Amino acid sequence: MEKIKLIATTNMGLEAVTKRELIDLGYEDIKVSDGKIEINCELKDIAILNLKLRTAERVLLLIDSFRAETFEELFNKVFEIRWWDYIAKDDNFIIQGRSRKSKLFSISDCQRITEKAIIEKLKMKYKISWFEKSGPRVKIEVSLLNDIAEITMDTSGDGLHKRGYREVNYKAPLSETIAASLVKLTFWNKDRILSDPFCGSGTIPIEAAMIEKNIAPGLMRKFDFENFTFFDPDIFKEEKKKCYSEIKYDVKLEILASDVSYKAIQIAKSNAEILGLDEDISFFQKDIKDIDLPDDYGVIITNPPYGERIGKEDVEELNIELGKLAKTLKTWSFYIITANENFEKNFGRKAHRNRKLYNGRIKTYYYQYYGPKPKR
Ligand SMILES: C[S@@+](CC[C@H](N)C(=O)[O-])C[C@H]1O[C@@H](n2cnc3c(N)ncnc32)[C@H](O)[C@@H]1O
Repeated sequence: MEKIKLIATTNMGLEAVTKRELIDLGYEDIKVSDGKIEINCELKDIAILNLKLRTAERVLLLIDSFRAETFEELFNKVFEIRWWDYIAKDDNFIIQGRSRKSKLFSISDCQRITEKAIIEKLKMKYKISWFEKSGPRVKIEVSLLNDIAEITMDTSGDGLHKRGYREVNYKAPLSETIAASLVKLTFWNKDRILSDPFCGSGTIPIEAAMIEKNIAPGLMRKFDFENFTFFDPDIFKEEKKKCYSEIKYDVKLEILASDVSYKAIQIAKSNAEILGLDEDISFFQKDIKDIDLPDDYGVIITNPPYGERIGKEDVEELNIELGKLAKTLKTWSFYIITANENFEKNFGRKAHRNRKLYNGRIKTYYYQYYGPKPKR
């Protein structure tokens, strides 16, 4: 089987979570750096990683990597690649770029030079002077860091956070990949109650249920690699079939998802129904002030309003309410993601652990309060 290098890109601060996922999936030959993990693997892993990774943002195929300090070097190295192995005659190839700490700092020029080299090379094979680009999308990226250029091909297409179940969103939804990471950073498992009292569109409860029922996050969507000429569609079918056979339909869950907004609950419910998870998650409309939970070693993972839409005082009031709830639930663990810097003060306790992470461009903190271990 042909050996390839794939790169799983992650949200900053979540590399270790994706590394753990890869290890759990059986991958050993992996290298972690800021925002990405390089994996030595085989062609079929393009399908496996896209279907199964919950916390990564994209899966890129590394085509080549080389030093480039001048545009001439960049052009020549890109031109050396056998581009017809990757791009078909009518493919709609798009060149993306990034550059950090490199002499070639103009991203638009790097993109232009890369595209020119690709076109010149393809012209030799396809004997045409104009590329219609009427076929499927192929995203190529030229990425420079410390004068080393990496040329990659995006096998995912749309970001992996697009699972296909969240057809409608309710205000400020959390990215699905972040929600899955938050769940993976807790001690929650199928034997404990999970509550999200600010559930919005239901992302945290839905991702949690998918994890415990082992529903592969990519089963409901399309990927760009499905159109790649070098990727055998039978491999994808086979891996998809395996994912379906690995779903743990018998796992019973007690997940409580509530929100003050009726509309949010309706949206969250219909998102969960798309995945057939409506029996595993109980959705109900409730203000945090009125929430009633059994003191039974449960886990709260939640994302209260940050304050872009409601005032700072209201946000702080909600965090005070959450703190009051925590005082009554002595055996529970609390995990809260918020951009609010005063959170611990309002909640009334210092967190056991606090992790900084980015929800898109918003700097957030993941406050972690560990309750006692459940008695066996
Ligand atoms: C940041 S959003 C949660 C987003 C959610 N994680 C998602 O992925 O869609 C915060 C949610 O808190 C809800 N909320 C605001 N005040 C509340 C209250 N007093 N009690 C319960 N929920 C409240 C809002 O309706 C909103 O859906």
